[in-house]
Amino acid sequence: MNTQQYHPWLNKIALATTLATLPLMVFGGHVTTENYGMAVVGWPGSDGQNMFTYPVFGLPTDKFFEHVHRLLGTLVGFLSIILVIVAFKVEQIKWIRNIAIAVLVCVIIQGILGGTRVTENSKALAMAHGLFGACVFTLMSFLTMATGKRWIEISKEPPALPAGYGRRLAITVPLLVLFQFFLGGCLRHFGVGLHPHLSFAFVVLIFVIIEFRSARKSGIKWLKRPAMGMLHIGIFQIILGFTAWITKLGLPSQGIVATAGSWEQSLSRTAHLLVGILLLTTVVLYSVKVFRLHQLNKNNHKQSGQTLSATDSLPNTEGNA
Ligand code: HEM
Ligand code: HEM
Repeated sequence: MNTQQYHPWLNKIALATTLATLPLMVFGGHVTTENYGMAVVGWPGSDGQNMFTYPVFGLPTDKFFEHVHRLLGTLVGFLSIILVIVAFKVEQIKWIRNIAIAVLVCVIIQGILGGTRVTENSKALAMAHGLFGACVFTLMSFLTMATGKRWIEISKEPPALPAGYGRRLAITVPLLVLFQFFLGGCLRHFGVGLHPHLSFAFVVLIFVIIEFRSARKSGIKWLKRPAMGMLHIGIFQIILGFTAWITKLGLPSQGIVATAGSWEQSLSRTAHLLVGILLLTTVVLYSVKVFRLHQLNKNNHKQSGQTLSATDSLPNTEGNA
């Protein structure tokens, strides 16, 4: 079995791909919030022109955001290709290479989803594009973490976890957040399901708190940090949810009227999408860490078991002399 080495360039390019996806999601989120999805006609061409020669400046606002989103998508695609090349050049561990390929494949699928959303003028595809975009970003973040120094260092002296610790929560919480994302997508793209989305937010929050408390009890810094992150992000997301709700739908009982296109509405709705993506990423990375520690603990047990049985089978020289 190969032991994992730290490859700074692989880690850097994984980080660059992840970071470049952030503005891409900001532009995509803004396109959806402002309903600019069909501003540029056609795909892969833009308004009948090659997308790379299509002008960026001097465009009407709706076309500008849609077009820049496409260009940023191309940049992320380019970085993902470099990621695969670097992974195959420097990395010996097969599953890491496979994740790099998976990132590239997912970015291609994401681009096709975005393009088909335009050619088919489909809201369902717009929703799938948003949800899948969050999953692609999570996968990139995972690769960045798995090629980082800390990931490798922790394998040398993994902190011990009680057997079975946090496994069920580590599966449940990401699924809950994913389902909440789906409910949010129904609300954002089809205007349905406010009450289920609102109620489920509290289920998500309760589970995030339970997971946070269990991480704190474990006393393991590597788990406590992301758990702290997910708690704060979760609370912030709920606040943003309320501001998105009030600025989008208003609160007639309080005399609050929603103003379409206001900066408050635009900011809170797009921020709610982005923080939702960050929450999904954080809970998934936390879960991956839990499973990694269990795996490392298991390997350690196996190794110490093997060492013990090797010692047992040694001839007992003591007392024979
Ligand atoms: C890695 C590549 C891409 C990522 C990560 C990405 C991400 C996103 C995200 C997060 C949104 C917001 C969705 C929402 O609010 O629910 C969005 C919207 C959008 N994206 Fe992309 N995108 C990518 C590539 C593309 C490409 C190549 C196109 C080509 C046309 C495209 C077209 C669109 C359109 C039209 C929307 C607005 C959908 C709507 O009307 O609601 N995207 N994108
Ligand atoms: C942990 C809790 C929450 C999570 C993870 C979450 C996640 C999301 C996501 C990801 C979206 C966009 C989905 C997409 O574009 O595909 C969304 C939309 C939305 N959410 Fe939440 N949400 C949460 C709590 C709340 C709360 C408490 C409210 C308050 C009522 C709320 C109100 C909304 C509204 C109004 C939209 C539609 C926004 C728009 O049309 O732009 N959310 N939510």
